[in-house]
Order: sequence, then structure tokens, then C-alpha cells
Amino acid sequence: MTETAELLPTERQLLFSRFADKLETAYNLNRKVVSFQANKDEPIYRWFKYKEGFSSALVKYFLKEYGNKPGKLLDPFAGAGTTLFAGQELGWESYGVELLPVGIFVMQTREVLNDPDLEKLRSAIIKISDDLSKIENYSTHFKHIAITKDAFADDTEIMMNKFLSYCSKIRDKKTQTVLRFAAFSVLEEISYTRKDGQYLRWDYRSKRDLSGKPFDKGKILTFEEALKSKLNQIMVDLSPDQSLNLFEEYSSNGNGHKQLPVKIIAGSCLEELPKLEDNFFDFILTSPPYCNRYDYTRTYALELVYLGYDSDQVRSLRQSMLSCTVENKEKVDYLKQFYSSIGKPEVFDEVFGVYNNSGAMMEVNSILDQLNKLEKLNNNNIPRMVKNYFLELCFVIYEMARITKAAGYSVMVNDNVRYGGEEIPVDLILSGFAENFGFTIKKIFVLPKGKGNSSQQMGNYGRTEVRKCVYLWQKK
Ligand SMILES: C[S@@+](CC[C@H](N)C(=O)[O-])C[C@H]1O[C@@H](n2cnc3c(N)ncnc32)[C@H](O)[C@@H]1O
Repeated sequence: MTETAELLPTERQLLFSRFADKLETAYNLNRKVVSFQANKDEPIYRWFKYKEGFSSALVKYFLKEYGNKPGKLLDPFAGAGTTLFAGQELGWESYGVELLPVGIFVMQTREVLNDPDLEKLRSAIIKISDDLSKIENYSTHFKHIAITKDAFADDTEIMMNKFLSYCSKIRDKKTQTVLRFAAFSVLEEISYTRKDGQYLRWDYRSKRDLSGKPFDKGKILTFEEALKSKLNQIMVDLSPDQSLNLFEEYSSNGNGHKQLPVKIIAGSCLEELPKLEDNFFDFILTSPPYCNRYDYTRTYALELVYLGYDSDQVRSLRQSMLSCTVENKEKVDYLKQFYSSIGKPEVFDEVFGVYNNSGAMMEVNSILDQLNKLEKLNNNNIPRMVKNYFLELCFVIYEMARITKAAGYSVMVNDNVRYGGEEIPVDLILSGFAENFGFTIKKIFVLPKGKGNSSQQMGNYGRTEVRKCVYLWQKK
């Protein structure tokens, strides 16, 4: 490399300079406020822990700060519905797209629990132990996939099969949903597994051949014990003196907002957003999967199997998710065909053009390819994952801009990532796409540095923590 070439700023540095005045450390938005942990006072989040979620407080903060009055609100990656239900409490008409059946089921249950029939529920719960003990004929509901096989003790699985057969005969849909949800929420507890980062960790008591240091997850409850305790928790939380809306100042009674039903759209936002009208939403508030190899279909494998998904269905679900694992194949041909099939081939060309014109994106892609050749990445599909993560989000951002009303806002929570020592400025690259599609970049709020910056970690890796941000974009 010549001396002059070394002095030239990289494309990422250029992009950084372009957005430098938008980056602002947001001391009021620390990790705790943004993350799922801030929800611990809200019952639904105690019943089932969807740790990938953000907090209701974050949603309410942005809606109050930037949404002048309740209107139409969308989350294209709705998860367990934090945006939708926090918005609903403030009187917004909420829409959410979600692909993972786990999130869809949690949102459906939340909708039911907005207006529960406690008496019916109570009498169904009182009968349950007795009724279950009498069941002799039941169907096998679990079609295990490789990573969930032997996750439950035989007795536990038999009881769950009986329970699911029993639930399928309950006429009252609301009661049925709550009962199914209660068992869904204890699956990890009654299994030989524990959710651990990307994978399920296996207890030494399972039938599996396990290598390495034995893992003991402690007491494993029987299905009946765990179910009773979960139903008890739900009933106590739902009883009239406990409101589902613990934030009185925001609740429908507190501020007189009418609560509108949430609209849950089950499917991929890559296909569902293009079906929505132009200039329809006043506000979009979302957090896509991060570009960090996290596989939702593995973490939630037990729950997927419980919901009736088999191997083929889980595999196809994994491929339809936004690319963020090394297993994801590229969707570019599919997207091209898709936009042709809806009569908008020019949209594909426009979005693909914006992606290919991003200097920083091209730089990241080419550096990752080089690092791959030098075997400096710990998986050789990382370049493909990164390339497709951004390409797919480029389509999502195009659609977000199209369906947002003039002057409406979009808020996105996301973390930057680093591969092979190279920082990938997710915040800047995505904001660059957004600008091309008609958003003004108002702010990129940077969360104050968290634990990851401890001297121990710095010592281990010799580098600083990557930015975790909340982007605020406004449609022109
Ligand atoms: C970070 S989580 C969002 C959590 C949400 N903010 C909450 O508080 O519950 C990202 C979500 O995007 C979903 N997802 C991934 N690919 C998707 C796609 N193509 N279409 C719609 N949702 C998708 C995942 O299943 C996951 O629930």
C-alpha cells in the first residue's frame, strides 16, 4: 500500500464524519431502560421471558416525546409485542408483523388477557388436575426435532400430551389460550435444558450422550407442579386488585385513552410490508434481530415443538427469518421474483441500487471476503450473513419509508457488531439507507457504555465496546 493510500479515510470513516453531529450519548436511555429487564414489573413479562425484547418504558418514552397524538403505530419485528401493547395503552392503533410463532402466540395471549373472563378461567383451573388424572386416551402432539429430542422426562411428556389433548377440547377459546400459554411458559423449567446464549444447554440427567463438564440445572419440577405454580401466578396477577397496566399514569383509566385492539400480522415483514398502503403509519418503533448470529429458532426450539412445529417447518422458518445466522441462505433471487410478482420490479432495482451504492457497505463486504480468504473469521459464512442482513434490511427500510406518513417518525434499536476485528457500523449503514429512501436522520442515540467495557474485557480483547444505538428518523 502506498503512503497516500494509507492516509485516505475509509468509507466507514467518511460515513462516520457525515453522521457525527447526529450521534449523541443518551444518558436517559441506559441499557437497563432499553432492555427487557425494565419490564419486570409487568406481569406478562414475568410469565414468559422473551429476553430479546425491549422495554415498554422505552416505547412510551418515544411515543410521548415524538408522537404528538395517538395515531397508527407499527412494529415490523414485533416479537412479544412490547411496541404494540405499550402503544395500545397510550391509545395508539397498533399493528405488528412477526414471523416467529412464539412471539405470535405470546401476542395473541396478551390480547386475550386484555379482557379475561376470570370466573371461567378459575373454574377451568380448579378442575384441571382431576380431569388430567382421568385421561387415558391422548394424542402425541410433540414431533421432536433433533435439538429437542429427549428434552423432557418420559412422564413429563406424557402429561403434556394429555394436557394438550385436554386443551384442544375446551370450547372457550380464551380459557384454552390461557391454559396453553401457562404450559408453554414452563417448558424450559420442566425440561433438561436451559436457554444459554445461542444454544440449549443440557442437564446431566437427560438421556443424551453428553460430553464435557456435567451441567446440573437444579430441581426440575414435574409438569403438574410447574403448571399449577404458573397458573397461580397468572391468576394472582390478574385478580381485580392487580391491574395488567401497572403504570397507572399511562393506563387507559388514568388518561382516558380508548384501547384499540392490536392487529397481529403473522408472516415475514419482507413480504407483509409491501402489502401495506403508502403513507399509512404515524410512527414505527422496532428492533430487528441483530447481526450477531443469534438463532431464534434454536433458542425457542422447545416452544416451537410445543406449538406443533416439526423439523421441516422449523428449518423453513429459520430460512425465512431475517438473515442473522451463518445458516441463512441468500434471499436476493427470491426478493427479485417477489417484487416482480407484485408488479413492482422497479422497486427491487431501486433498493438493490441503494445497497450497492453504499460505499461503507461495499467496503465491509470486501474486507470480510478478504478476511475469509485469510481464514481470519471463525465461520466462513459470516460474509454471506452480513451481506444479506443488510440487503434484507435495506428492503425493510425502503418499505418503512414508503408506509410512513410525511413527518412521521421511525425509531430503531440495534447494536453494532464486529467480525474478524473489523467494526461494522450498523447504525451508520442503515441510516445511510434510510436517507436514500426519504428519511431525515434526526439522531442516533448512543447508549452509555455498559459492562462490556470493563477493564477485564478490554484486557481480553484489547478493544472498545461497539455502539448500541437507538436511531430516530423522520420522513420528509
Ligand atoms: C429483537 S426481536 C424484537 C423484540 C420486540 N421488540 C419485543 O420487545 O418483543 C426481533 C424479532 O424479529 C423477528 N423476525 C425475524 N425475522 C423476521 C421477519 N422476516 N419478519 C418478521 N419478524 C421477523 C424475530 O422473530 C424476533 O421476534
